[in-house]
Amino acid sequence: MNSSDRGAQREDELIMLVVAVASQKGGSGKTTLAGHIAVQAELSGAGPVAMVDTDPQGSLSDWWNEREEMTPAFVRTTIQRLSDDIEKMRDLGINLLVIDTPPAITATIGQVIGLADLVVVPTRPSPHDLRSVGATVDICETHGKPLVFVINGASARARITMEAIFALSQHGTLAPSVVHQRTDFAASMIDGRTVMEVAGKSKSAQEIVELWSYLEDRLLKRKRQPALKVGQMYATAKQDLCVS
Ligand SMILES: Nc1ncnc2c1ncn2[C@@H]1O[C@H](COP(=O)(O)OP(=O)(O)O)[C@@H](O)[C@H]1O
Ligand SMILES: [Mg+2]
Repeated sequence: MNSSDRGAQREDELIMLVVAVASQKGGSGKTTLAGHIAVQAELSGAGPVAMVDTDPQGSLSDWWNEREEMTPAFVRTTIQRLSDDIEKMRDLGINLLVIDTPPAITATIGQVIGLADLVVVPTRPSPHDLRSVGATVDICETHGKPLVFVINGASARARITMEAIFALSQHGTLAPSVVHQRTDFAASMIDGRTVMEVAGKSKSAQEIVELWSYLEDRLLKRKRQPALKVGQMYATAKQDLCVS
């Protein structure tokens, strides 16, 4: 291997991608999706993965403390130290960092989004959640950061899911995998796990597998056809409702 090859390899090793999970609405599923995305990324071989919790409530941190598995790694830091600590994680060979954020603390969210490569915005298909997305979209636009909406907590056969798909796709990119409201999302996290780590293959786990696969493609800038995907989602939601 010549020196320029080594240089290229070294550069490659230093790439660490940062995903921020943010939305100004409390209860939209930030912590749930942050934990699930981090674990699924690790399970799919995209690791080493690290997580940071910037929410003073510390729900992601509490979840990790209950966890038996040591991966993904959990990094304790502060919003003031975050930028320096990201460089340290990069040097340590972390490939992906997932950052959970607090609701409605604009300064913190802005700082985290400023450091992110991609912003995941969980949104419940409810009028309140849909109305509040504008604020998060504005912060992403101010920082010039790409965002992906993820519909979380959808109910089967609900017209509002279709409306959410339509409304969100007007504001930005929508992940093609809708995450439904299912008790195993909450139950699995009680003892520090995720839906992928409880026994049996579940629809919930499949949704997270598909979600991470999509996010990974976005992060690595692999080509997809988002317009087609939204069209398909719309058709599926329509079928679900038995609307012709
Ligand atoms: N898809 C889902 N199905 C069932 N419960 C969910 C789902 N997503 C989130 N929850 C539950 O909703 C509540 C709020 O979710 P959380 O991830 O803490 O939101 P946030 O971090 O945005 O405030 C939690 O009790 C969580 O277990
Ligand atoms: Mg939270």
